[in-house]
Amino acid sequence: MFDAGTRCMVVVGAQWGDEGKGKLVDVLGEHADLVVRYQGGANAGHTVVIGSDHYVLHQIPSGILHPGASCIIGNGVVLDAEQLFVELDDLTARGIRLDGRLFISDRAHLVLPLHKQLDQASEKRQNIGTTGRGIGPCYEDKVGRRGLRVGNLRNLDEAAQILAARVDRANHQLHELNSDQRASFEEHVELVRRLAPRLLSLAADTGLLVHRAVKDRKRVLLEGAQGALLDVDHGTYPFVTSSNTTAGGATVGAGIGPTAIDGVLGVVKAYTTRVGNGPLPTEAEPALSERLRTVGGEFGATTGRPRRCGWFDASVVRYAARVNGLTGLAVTKLDVLDHFDTIPVGTGYKLDGGECAEMPADVEQLARVRPVYEELKGWNADTGGARKVDELPRQARAYLDRIQELSGVPIRYVSVGTRRDQIIELQ
Ligand code: GDP
Ligand code: IMO
Ligand code: MG
Repeated sequence: MFDAGTRCMVVVGAQWGDEGKGKLVDVLGEHADLVVRYQGGANAGHTVVIGSDHYVLHQIPSGILHPGASCIIGNGVVLDAEQLFVELDDLTARGIRLDGRLFISDRAHLVLPLHKQLDQASEKRQNIGTTGRGIGPCYEDKVGRRGLRVGNLRNLDEAAQILAARVDRANHQLHELNSDQRASFEEHVELVRRLAPRLLSLAADTGLLVHRAVKDRKRVLLEGAQGALLDVDHGTYPFVTSSNTTAGGATVGAGIGPTAIDGVLGVVKAYTTRVGNGPLPTEAEPALSERLRTVGGEFGATTGRPRRCGWFDASVVRYAARVNGLTGLAVTKLDVLDHFDTIPVGTGYKLDGGECAEMPADVEQLARVRPVYEELKGWNADTGGARKVDELPRQARAYLDRIQELSGVPIRYVSVGTRRDQIIELQ
């Protein structure tokens, strides 16, 4: 992946999240100097499996399991500091050395208990199926210019003033949302005072760190969370998350310019899943959805919710390729399709009897499109042991060739199992 001309790579989800970004970042992280999370927060759940060890990273970059990689939580992340420390302590307890390897942007906004209360209360009205991690309300405060940033903790009196205004406003909102919950100013102040020393010991001008790494030609990975169709601008609005999950978000959220980026790897499953509400055009009929879910272990890494499952949707991936500027694809979970006789692939959409060439902006239209399917032959053989593309069954290679052709992006990696070594790199 990294070579003389490719030093700074973005890894993004190119469907609805949970594509296997954690696995890919871990695989690529072996050769990385720096791995940066740049948006989202504890709504993400990125799984890395090393032998029999299973790690789910929510806010810490998935490069942390390589001792040679430094990790950054960038300014674009909304940080749940209490959860971060749970995650850090868990890694330490499992023998991962973290000293001097993790830096947090002093410009990152803090997710507070009141944001989670507001998320849960708004869900009752909006029914988006959020993760309940306070993501939307925290980004609302950020854009509304009233948020609390990591750097504010350097002056706790100033932080308390911001908190007083925030708690007051949140309690008005909770009242309007008919919630019987209320945020407590004292609890918020106590929490922030308790977290401040440890958080500040990790705080830095991380944009500068990333800038220097890029300038020194270090190998940098920018790790996206969620997926293109959950992007607040380009996704299936309003059934989206509240950040720019697409590659443009990487520059803003890491604090560097677009000219620093050499390539964008889009991670896609060999089929499609979605967790939460909103349209999923190629969702399979219940029995097949259930089969994909069981074989693929499709349960949310953050909330444990069952994921909705369906077939590869080339319209989604073509669109994700466009809005991300994808330069390569990583196709994951090919092994989940090992024992199907035929595998449908969505090649395009029809809407009201006509062709629907591009992703509709209107979620109501997307809910009405009818996917056009092509039936590809299954291979009825295990792929988990393949380490080279020519070790894959002929029909599996034909399947990959077809989804590459339909997506218009070259496949660079194929993942055939959860483990680190279960990866094929294509030339
Ligand atoms: P992320 O959010 O994009 O990092 O993805 P998640 O970790 O939420 O979900 C992906 C799931 O698929 C995790 O349980 C991974 O261990 C698993 N996974 C990743 N790649 C493969 C693969 O090639 N085959 C199989 N069977 N599982 C995989
Ligand atoms: P990773 O990084 C899959 C979904 C939620 C919901 C919507 C909004 O593991 O791929 P939010 O809590 O962000 O306000 O919820 O976005 N969602 C995800 N779905 N993977 C994720 O992260 C997700 N993060 C949020 O289910 O539909
Ligand atoms: Mg996930």
